Amino acid sequence: MPDVYKIREDFPLLQRVRKTDGKPFVYLDNAATSLKPRQVIEAVIEYYEKYCANIHRGVHYLSQKASELYEEAHEKVAKFIGARSMEEIVFVKNTTEAINYVAYGIDWKPGDEIVTTVMEHHSNLVPWQIVRGKFGVKLKFVRLRDRWFLDIEHLEELITDRTRLVAVVHASNVLGTINPVEEICKIAHDHGALVLVDGAQSVPHMPIDVKKIGCDFLAFSGHKMLGPTGIGALYIREGLGEELNPTFGGGDMIRRVTLEKSEWNVLPWKFEAGTPNIAGGIGFGAAVDYLRRVGMEWVRAHEKELTRYALKRMSEIPGVEVYGPEDIEKRGGVIAFNVRGFDPHEVAMLLDDLENIAIRSGLHCAEPLHNALGISSSARASFYLYNTKEEVDLFCDTLEKIARELGSTE
Ligand SMILES: Cc1ncc(COP(=O)(O)O)c(C=O)c1O
Repeated sequence: MPDVYKIREDFPLLQRVRKTDGKPFVYLDNAATSLKPRQVIEAVIEYYEKYCANIHRGVHYLSQKASELYEEAHEKVAKFIGARSMEEIVFVKNTTEAINYVAYGIDWKPGDEIVTTVMEHHSNLVPWQIVRGKFGVKLKFVRLRDRWFLDIEHLEELITDRTRLVAVVHASNVLGTINPVEEICKIAHDHGALVLVDGAQSVPHMPIDVKKIGCDFLAFSGHKMLGPTGIGALYIREGLGEELNPTFGGGDMIRRVTLEKSEWNVLPWKFEAGTPNIAGGIGFGAAVDYLRRVGMEWVRAHEKELTRYALKRMSEIPGVEVYGPEDIEKRGGVIAFNVRGFDPHEVAMLLDDLENIAIRSGLHCAEPLHNALGISSSARASFYLYNTKEEVDLFCDTLEKIARELGSTE
């Protein structure tokens, strides 16, 4: 059984205390990016110190070694999400870039329709607005039901035989809501539409099997799952990679080039033009190793326990309003909230000042969702495998102090 206190020892930032008052660092901004364990930092350093060479471009030892490690990282990521092989895994910068690869890779036709939802992060919305502007496709939005859930009946109404793509978030970065992506894939596929799942907040936090979900594309970020920044992945279902156009052209993504035309390289390299983020990719592999060692079932169970406890404590604080499902089975470890009488930025600053607690505040890149909820912004605490019940207590105690002692008395 993994031990959260042992896990914490691997994270250098969790060993630090604030210089001015010796308070430990409480990191509850995991939905934005995660902390990195020593094992990942060391894998990146090791590449620069021992194998720093370009990949797929040299017959010398260093290049061979770097290529081997970089390819192995694709294999690890493939296995982590239940992909059939590493040919289905393209390394990209982040979730945003992965989604843009799909937006620019599909040969859009006049009359095509894209169905997405009001729950999306801007990165799964703005690319479709650009596609609409460029290619004249129609964009439709699934509304919310019972405040925190997608209205699946509305989705069924919106998907027609003209729907080319359904783009949906797996776990909301504001509400925590886990959407029924398997069911959505079935509905979409019945109409011949493709499905892109935004897994930025699900892949790091729960066991994922793309074959079970049945999606065509899955986008996720390495930096939200213990990996370095600047690396993420796009899963492209077997058979689709041949149809999708490469977004970028250049070195390594080609097999043969003449002045007239080029032939694309085999998958996944067709989509990785130019020198990639080699160190980041190798670090991503180390992050996946770490998560597999801990076990994703445990990560999910641990976060459920923390979230259940935090939701209960927060519900007891007068003036605190929480957004998102109560049922722990239907949500992840992201809790958006507001404190009456405070701007969320003030709440975040007070938590930081008083107890060295980091949370996020603002719109969380989900402005339409905030509009749909009828709120102008929110604060957000989000948990990961290294957070503890004691940290949740400190967060809730401080929130209570802010709400009771520092807030308005209305
Ligand atoms: C649900 C969701 N989708 C997409 C993204 C974008 O991720 P990135 O900034 O790594 O591209 C985020 C980041 O917070 C997210 O939470």
